[in-house]
Amino acid sequence: MCGIVGVTGSDPALPFLLDGLSRLEYRGYDSSGVALVDSDRVWVRRRAGKLAELTGAVGDAPRATAGIGHTRWATHGGPTEHNAHPHTDCTGALALVHNGIIENHLELGDELVSAGHELRSETDSEVLAHLIEAGMAGGAGLADATRAALARVEGSFAVAVVHAANPEVIVAGRRSSPLVAGRADGSGFVASDIPALLAATREVYVLDDDQIVEVGPGTLRVTTLDGTEVSPVRRRVEGDVETAEKGGYPDFMLKEIHEQPRAVRETLRGRTKGDRLTLGELELSDQELRDVDKVFIVGCGTSFHAGMVARHAIEHWARLPTEIEVASEFRYRDPVLDAQSLVVGVSQSGESLDTMEACRFARSATNKAKVLVVCNVVDSSMAREADAVLYTRAGPERGVAATKTHVAQIVAMELLALRLAHVRGLLYPEEVARQVEALHSLPTLIDGVLARSEEICDAATSYVDTRDFFFLGRGVGYPVALEGALKLKEISYARAEAYPAGEMKHGPIALIEPGTVVVAVATRGRLHAKIMNNIDEVKARGATVVVVANEGDDAAANHADRVLWVPAVPRGAELFSPLVDVVALQLFAYAIAKARGCDVDQPRNLAKTVTVE
Ligand code: G6P
Repeated sequence: MCGIVGVTGSDPALPFLLDGLSRLEYRGYDSSGVALVDSDRVWVRRRAGKLAELTGAVGDAPRATAGIGHTRWATHGGPTEHNAHPHTDCTGALALVHNGIIENHLELGDELVSAGHELRSETDSEVLAHLIEAGMAGGAGLADATRAALARVEGSFAVAVVHAANPEVIVAGRRSSPLVAGRADGSGFVASDIPALLAATREVYVLDDDQIVEVGPGTLRVTTLDGTEVSPVRRRVEGDVETAEKGGYPDFMLKEIHEQPRAVRETLRGRTKGDRLTLGELELSDQELRDVDKVFIVGCGTSFHAGMVARHAIEHWARLPTEIEVASEFRYRDPVLDAQSLVVGVSQSGESLDTMEACRFARSATNKAKVLVVCNVVDSSMAREADAVLYTRAGPERGVAATKTHVAQIVAMELLALRLAHVRGLLYPEEVARQVEALHSLPTLIDGVLARSEEICDAATSYVDTRDFFFLGRGVGYPVALEGALKLKEISYARAEAYPAGEMKHGPIALIEPGTVVVAVATRGRLHAKIMNNIDEVKARGATVVVVANEGDDAAANHADRVLWVPAVPRGAELFSPLVDVVALQLFAYAIAKARGCDVDQPRNLAKTVTVE
């Protein structure tokens, strides 16, 4: 997730660009850059690191009235200066910024190189600058050449382009990645998000997929990729910058809960084609993956719970013995590690000290294990030290209680499990393709849960005054129960314990009394009948039972006092059900915390990233 900003008709343009970038820094911040249109050329300055690096390096910028800027959160190519945006064409007259993923960039790149273009970065984005250059060399204007180039892209994009031949114009377009345009007297703007524009205008228009906008000083023209002119939709903009950053949601947590379909889509993007899985940054060869004879997963908190789901997938598909351990305990026992062990470190931030030290311990000269890190922050400390990295692409997460990064972690590790199974020859290609297809259906299923937000939150608010909650699950439902309890504890401060449902009868059931609320994850799967029995056991002792159940499952409804309905995952894809079920429990915890008047974004005593042991 990167941030884009552009302005024309602003004298000078640079302060607006830098201010806009600072407001977009939450979208990513591993490098940044600006391009200013300066008579017959574009002046470009880029820097790796935080925005302050760029701000300190633009003292010699020319005075210009138009330009574009970018703050990057790397997906293809490391966060270096030469991979930072804007990218220029071969002539240096065109500069372009991009957010998204161009899935067919290798094919396009080969074609451009054969035609004599010189690609200077490892990014997927640069090909666009050269494609537009090629179109303009063939006689097209900037807008037509941009339209033609974007029509050839497979994947997602928000782009903004400037060209010395049209010094007052910015051409921008989008598909899947966000982009807004704005207008004021004598000036025009584009940006990834409204907060970047607020200081300059409240006349903001939201572009639809496959539309492009030509912005001039005080003018704005929107067309589709085939050139048909359309009337843009004006967005009502109210409130201050923070309100705008929350995108209309009352807090970041709720916004991020709603961003989960996108987080899943982005984490899958470009990594699957039928039965072929391409896990780009996974720098372990097929042979190295084949050599693995044991997997250890380590993580903390929510990341640990994602790892628990992954263990089921790796054992089931790849038939590899898999252990999971909280990172803070792992290196204080004597895990049996060697060069055939694969240790998967799971961490949203890539900076949690417990997980980082567990990974270091695994890679040490004594243990020699291979370490693969699953994380959301490109070039984080853990990513830099690992043998291989698999990035989740959930975008920066602001709420302390993790939500969208959790589902993205599960998706990334389910892909890893399928890849391990594939290289080990344990799954037929058709089976891999079937599972991949099921994975792609998840964003829609998660949308199905989000569509029921109101009903789930209504149900939850009946339990605002409840003191004790138990969360139960079996199989992959158990980590969901753990995560549901953790979310509730973290943000509402209710006491919530999670147990494997079958274990209740061995002790914890003694705590059940009238008024205790038991939340059971009871979506369909091979243990469905068994969890129904466990529900009856607690109900018989006076518990109030809330179940997460699949739409239409009357049997589950008959065993419960309340039902949180969720769509069912495709048959045979039950290992993916946590990705859907957990969303209901995030909403459940959210509603209770809000009704209790808690600060869900910054709960007491917690930190987003804990860098002490
Ligand atoms: C902290 C946060 C948790 C998070 C955990 C792991 O304790 O409060 O919400 O799950 O760290 O963070 P990581 O960045 O390693 O996933």
